[in-house]
Amino acid sequence: MKLLSELKLGNLTLKNRIIMAPLTRMRSAQPGNIPQELNATYYAQRASAGLIITEATQVSQQGQGYPGTPGIHSKEQVSGWKQVTKAVHEKGGKIFLQLWHVGRISHSSHQPDGKLPVAPSAIAAKNSGTYTADWKPTEILTPRALEVVEIKNIVKDFKMAAINAKEAGFDGVEVHMANGYLLDQFLQSGSNQRTDDYGGSIADRVRFPLEVLDAVINVWGKDKVGVRLSPYGTFNDMSDSDPKALFDHLIEELNKRGIVFIDMIEPRATTAGGDDKLNDKAPCTSDLFKNKFNGVFISAGGYTPETAEQALEQNKADAIMFGRWFISNPDLPERISKKAELNKYDRSTFYGGQEKGYTDYPCLS
Ligand SMILES: Cc1cc2nc3c(=O)[nH]c(=O)nc-3n(C[C@H](O)[C@H](O)[C@H](O)COP(=O)(O)O)c2cc1C
Repeated sequence: MKLLSELKLGNLTLKNRIIMAPLTRMRSAQPGNIPQELNATYYAQRASAGLIITEATQVSQQGQGYPGTPGIHSKEQVSGWKQVTKAVHEKGGKIFLQLWHVGRISHSSHQPDGKLPVAPSAIAAKNSGTYTADWKPTEILTPRALEVVEIKNIVKDFKMAAINAKEAGFDGVEVHMANGYLLDQFLQSGSNQRTDDYGGSIADRVRFPLEVLDAVINVWGKDKVGVRLSPYGTFNDMSDSDPKALFDHLIEELNKRGIVFIDMIEPRATTAGGDDKLNDKAPCTSDLFKNKFNGVFISAGGYTPETAEQALEQNKADAIMFGRWFISNPDLPERISKKAELNKYDRSTFYGGQEKGYTDYPCLS
């Protein structure tokens, strides 16, 4: 099986091509959004993945959008993550941290100054929601447009977070440019209507995400940095006037930088965090973009073990990510190799809580 074959990722060798997708689970220790032993247990249980990408992790307090998500901007958080990386490495696993700023998908209750969330432009995400700091569902507020000096400071926050991730013992980092969060908000014209150097043309809209990426590469080197993208994704009210031109251009820029992988979410699975419906009318982004990228192309979104194997055989991807199936199957690679039945996942325990639906899914043996 191709899924079970090794994969070179820069100077790392992944033991298989079954990658654990970044999955927000909102179970960090409070106060302080600090990774804890429970999280280390959860990730170590899944160390047989070729690579684990952690749940999205805020680079600053301003970057938080949901309660209980972990950060990588305080000393305590760095020590918390050290337990996680140690536990995964002891089980022979590899783990990258997903670096995140939610931008407009926040609520003033998460903001350090209690003020409005920030974004490229003062445009609210419609039909979207989040949770306040005390776990109350809320609509998305109309954000405040960032000043240029603030944009420069967010680049510094990502850089500091990348430095912290190194200190915490990760094998690399993934920059989250997908799913309608801050960097994606800058990329796409529906959320970016700036008239300065950071908005307007495609070259201007990619500027800030690339400044962030360059700062992160500066810390880690290109071989240890990947990027997550979600072209045509509609989650968090995203839209663009010409996604093909935008992402073609961005991928060219990623090629120039030589980053080690792209992780692209198939738009059919744009609602995976909220419901099970797949949109089979959505374009296939691995068909559209895989051949444009020079590095390792990881595809995510709505795969079963069977369709994942087919995608590798048809050269639509170099590796496949599983999200929901990794939640309920800590030993997913073993189950795939034995063609064993998969545990069903319980959606009611995806976000928040403790062990239930987190560390208590059974393994085969
Ligand atoms: C509970 C849950 C949490 C998620 N959290 C994140 C996240 O933190 N970062 C991210 O980039 N994607 C996140 N996603 C999207 C997944 O990484 C993945 O792209 C999506 O679930 C589709 O893959 P699947 O069909 O294998 O589940 C999340 C999805 C789910 C179901």
